[in-house]
Amino acid sequence: MSQLNVTTLNQQFAIPGQLEFTEDVSGLVLACIANKQAKSTISLQGAHVMSFEPVGEKPVIWLSPAAKLAPGKSIRGGVPICWPWFGAHATDSTFPSHGFARTVPWQVVASEALPDGSTRITFELPQSSIPSAQWPHACRVRNVVTIGKEMTVELITENTGQTMFEIGEALHTYFAISDVDQIRITGLEGCAYLDKVGDWQRKTQSGAITIAAEVDRLYVDTDSDCLIDDSGQKRSIRIAKRGSRSTVVWNPWVEKAAKMGDFGSDTGYRGMVCVESVNAAENVIKVAAGATHSLHVTYSIE
Ligand code: BG6
Repeated sequence: MSQLNVTTLNQQFAIPGQLEFTEDVSGLVLACIANKQAKSTISLQGAHVMSFEPVGEKPVIWLSPAAKLAPGKSIRGGVPICWPWFGAHATDSTFPSHGFARTVPWQVVASEALPDGSTRITFELPQSSIPSAQWPHACRVRNVVTIGKEMTVELITENTGQTMFEIGEALHTYFAISDVDQIRITGLEGCAYLDKVGDWQRKTQSGAITIAAEVDRLYVDTDSDCLIDDSGQKRSIRIAKRGSRSTVVWNPWVEKAAKMGDFGSDTGYRGMVCVESVNAAENVIKVAAGATHSLHVTYSIE
């Protein structure tokens, strides 16, 4: 994207003292929010939240120190948007994992300073970013991000065509934690999950989740809040969701992180955990012609 675009974006959507647009050395355009409650950076590629830091708090969101910002590449960390499918495509393995939305340009369509002091920015997936061979359906997709004491992210899918379509999706959020040894995740006790590390076997969660090896689990039929209780940072992160019936918990652990090559140091995986608000497997969403589906997640510290 060119400087001209950044100038135009600033003319149309900047909010003095709250929101401005800049261009990264990689050429990616970033929306930079800093208000009295928090700061955040969001890449227009993927409408991808890269950071969220409430005033007086350590970062809530993990971004790999080795994350590569480049056109067409997904960013390791932050809040990648997986859409319109989650994981591998159901029938065509040549289509990108987790869908195309995270690696294509989105447009800014609105910005707003809210009366409570938070800042809202709305992104839309332009038609030109939708590969029709992969997604031959008429739709309008928006990502509405609100940055204040809490962060909310709302992914809205509207079916503007004449026939029903089905989507899988996720807000694939990476959280910054003190160390994997120091956290437990609650909210999924008693839930059924598909264990990707165990050949997709169906299992039942007993008790809180602790992490001491690779964890890659798709919990189904759950709309519960999750809490990441981080004794090392003496805080908990609450993930409260609506319009999501699956939750993925993921930490690649040492070998997989090393293979991925963008986790930073060889202990980089220890400072993150993904707790993803998802609709996948038996929880994919049918969106009828003319209907709208919203996946809405609030992230807060307690
Ligand atoms: C998680 C999946 O959602 O995303 C994992 O459950 C996957 O299996 C991880 O490894 C990261 O995916 P990607 O495509 O960003 O490397």
